[in-house]
Amino acid sequence: VIGERAGGPAADVVFGYHQRTKHSLKAYAAGPETLDWDSQPDPFRTFAGAPRVRLPLAADTLPATFADLHRPGAVPPAALSLESLGALLQLSLALSAWKAQGPDRWALRCTPSSGNLHPTEAYVLVRHVRGLEDGLYHYVSRDHALELRRRAAPAPDQPPFLGVGLSSIHWREAWKYGERAFRYCQLDAGHALGALRYAAGALGWTARLADGLSSAALAAMLGLDRDADFAGVEREEPELLVAFDAGGALAGTVPAPDGPWSGRANLLDPHPFYRWPAIDAAAEATRGGGGADAAPSPILPPLAHAGEQHAIRILLDRRSAQRFDRHRTMSRESFFHVLDCLAPRGALPWDVWRFEARLHPIVFVHNVEGVAPGAYALPRRPDAAEGLRAGLSPDFTWDRLDAAPAHLPLVRLHMGDCRAASRTLNCHQAIASDACFAVSMLAEFEPLVAADPWRYRQLHWEAGLLGHVLYLEAESAGMRGTGVGCYFDDALHELLGLRGRAFQALYHFTVGFPLVDDRISTSPPYPPSEGQP
Ligand SMILES: Cc1cc2nc3c(=O)[nH]c(=O)nc-3n(C[C@H](O)[C@H](O)[C@H](O)COP(=O)(O)O)c2cc1C
Repeated sequence: VIGERAGGPAADVVFGYHQRTKHSLKAYAAGPETLDWDSQPDPFRTFAGAPRVRLPLAADTLPATFADLHRPGAVPPAALSLESLGALLQLSLALSAWKAQGPDRWALRCTPSSGNLHPTEAYVLVRHVRGLEDGLYHYVSRDHALELRRRAAPAPDQPPFLGVGLSSIHWREAWKYGERAFRYCQLDAGHALGALRYAAGALGWTARLADGLSSAALAAMLGLDRDADFAGVEREEPELLVAFDAGGALAGTVPAPDGPWSGRANLLDPHPFYRWPAIDAAAEATRGGGGADAAPSPILPPLAHAGEQHAIRILLDRRSAQRFDRHRTMSRESFFHVLDCLAPRGALPWDVWRFEARLHPIVFVHNVEGVAPGAYALPRRPDAAEGLRAGLSPDFTWDRLDAAPAHLPLVRLHMGDCRAASRTLNCHQAIASDACFAVSMLAEFEPLVAADPWRYRQLHWEAGLLGHVLYLEAESAGMRGTGVGCYFDDALHELLGLRGRAFQALYHFTVGFPLVDDRISTSPPYPPSEGQP
């Protein structure tokens, strides 16, 4: 029986799913044998018949620097209005460019996504947002527009509210990646959560994951359980709800729109060629919505952030590198700064929830000035360091790096060139060997997932958040990052001496100096000719 909680069969389903979706040197996880790019599922969901509201592209008016986002109180909170909501979505989930090469044309977004397939959909719940009727809306990134799904009755006595709910359309990702796609959907949701938190920062707002909201309640709230509106089309899996705080004004309860529903979801793929029931089983087994750890963050000195660039440029211009220049060296100062940003502080983006840091980067240094090539560990919670040390190979040296800031618990495990191993372990991808450094994110895995299988999702969201910080910090350092979902799980675990399931790698990442492919042309995300300001 799938769905029983607390270490019962649901946890077994999750462990089984995780194991069977590992890539190995001998075989990749089950996926389609051929791909016809012309039959890629529609990357844009729309609800036919739902009234539309165009959102302003107002991010240009926000003056904050990237460093300001990291200084609590540095950005005065923007008023809650259609303009500020437009800017929030423009800086997080909107398109950031159209790309073209030969006959092919594709959109990129502020968030990265495995294979650029973008399984994440967003819904906006509002009360007393100036210029917008109260209710529930679906966000269409292609048009930077909202579709009204359900109106709410006026509630003059209630305080304002702004929330964004996220869901995943598994098929968009499974179409290309087969069974492993559920993991990628979760990583993408983590990136989207990070993108929303940073965008809120540019408006002087904070953002918080709603605790303890069950998947069923979220599905009902976002209208994802409405069979009639999704008849014959791809369903959406509820993931999470983020509530925004615009200067203390948004303390109210979540609105419950009660008007009639409008709109029917479009069909994304008329001829799906495969079915991957393992994904449905993993989704069902990980439903829930557990409460947070409610643990205080470790006390760390505030982050000294030097990013004086305009924040919106970092958020809108973030890109994945497709190739790196292996000869360029990263400065030690930038390297330590980027790692310092991964430390959990009670500030952006880690203040988005109250979960303890459960992912711990293993950093493969290839080309950093004054830092010997080798493998390093960054335990992000002091009491996790012992467990990691006990779990990893006894041959590792655990030398503290004198050059690192005193509060940064970066230790060297092994000295030596890891480029070839990095490339092999990351599905033979050259980005992993040509980067200045590559990261493998190890999650505290078995005990957490056994106690609450929903944590399988939440751990992936933490990995996505870490990846998002790395992307933005790489941009801010004049470099670039690329998330890596394709790696050989157990080959990496073996290299690190890990046995059992106490720790598992959930995401990889690379940072370096990009080589840009200038055969690809770029055009603006929303041409002014289409009526946008
Ligand atoms: C979860 C995840 C896994 C990814 N895995 C890989 C990978 O294995 N190799 C790669 O070259 N890029 C990978 N990427 C980068 C995506 O291909 C990239 O985000 C996408 O093409 C969109 O481009 P953009 O990031 O420039 O917007 C990954 C991105 C994410 C979010």
